[in-house]
Amino acid sequence: MVITKVFVVDPLEPDNGAIEYCCAEMKRGAIAVFPTETVYGLGAYVFDVEAVKRIFIVKGRPPDNPLIVHVANIDQVRQVAEEVPNTLRIVFEKLWPGPLTIVLKRRREVPPEISAGLPTVAIRMPGHPVALRLIECVGPIAAPSANLSGRPSPTEPHHVYVDMYGRADIIIDSGATFFGVESTIVDLVSDPPRLLRPGALPVEKISEVLGITIVIPESARGVVESDIALAPGMKYKHYAPRTPLLIVETNNYDNLDAYAKRFAEVVKDRCSTIKCVLIVSRETVELYKDLSLPKIVMGSRSNVYEIAKNLYSVLRELDRLGVDLGIAEGLPEIGLGLTIMNRLRKAAGFNVVKV
Ligand code: TXA
Ligand code: MG
Repeated sequence: MVITKVFVVDPLEPDNGAIEYCCAEMKRGAIAVFPTETVYGLGAYVFDVEAVKRIFIVKGRPPDNPLIVHVANIDQVRQVAEEVPNTLRIVFEKLWPGPLTIVLKRRREVPPEISAGLPTVAIRMPGHPVALRLIECVGPIAAPSANLSGRPSPTEPHHVYVDMYGRADIIIDSGATFFGVESTIVDLVSDPPRLLRPGALPVEKISEVLGITIVIPESARGVVESDIALAPGMKYKHYAPRTPLLIVETNNYDNLDAYAKRFAEVVKDRCSTIKCVLIVSRETVELYKDLSLPKIVMGSRSNVYEIAKNLYSVLRELDRLGVDLGIAEGLPEIGLGLTIMNRLRKAAGFNVVKV
């Protein structure tokens, strides 16, 4: 148990005193929870191997699951990447700061622990004023999401306190994060470029802005487990609530009434002898009013940003209700829908039925 210092920092008018204090502590080896626009991160200065190793210990993270390096400018990219390809310049101009992580060749000076021994390094420039100021001051910061390994990523301050109080040296609390799901990860070392993890920035948008085709492997959809060679770290059952979860999917969400009827049949079938909770959309919740089971509304189908933002809170809420099974609706895999379905399928340990 360590003594955790907590700073509440307004994301719109960050208090420089608090950030400078955290910066000085991180330069002396502290590990700190800090906000980003996606989820909270647990960070250490990249070139401090001991602090980096502590991140793995504190999270209970397997050493073969690499960390993302957070930068605030192109000079910091050069400190960690062997080469800066032209495509990255467009990323800088048009997409950074923002919820996009790019995999490049790693400079030898970067501790191999960060990349789990791979010759590559994942880099992103977060779009959050507190994160950017901290990284500008400290230098590149290696940070995974600030949850205990295997738990949903923290998107609200109380998630951070539950998982990291007494474990991290510092917590910077800046309220709820903006997107609520992690960054999109694109591998630019492979040819053609590959999507390693769908995230807060839709892959369609990245392809369009960069003018490149990005291959979407089945593992990135979360339909099959990743193999280690393709996307290290992604083989683990991520984002898992303790309560078993089942996802009810279809190929056609256009006819919502028909889908909801089939969803209700699955519920009646599975929940006759056990306690269930339904995870549904605002559009469909009324259609299940005859099912006298607790319901969690994840948001509106017409605003997938809302569903993404609520997703991890919904998974934690599921655990609080203490039921035997959660049954969740699916969404079309377009834009952020791809990201949400990836997280839901993984949270469910690939427990999916098609109706
Ligand atoms: O939004 C985010 O990306 C958040 C915030 C804190 O920035 N971070 C985050 O980190 O989600 P984490 O540790 O939960 O996920 C990092 C994932 C790893 O599991 C791995 O799949 C991938 O990034 N990754 C890291 N380095 C890699 C590399 N060199 N090659 C391929 N994948 C890599
Ligand atoms: Mg994570």
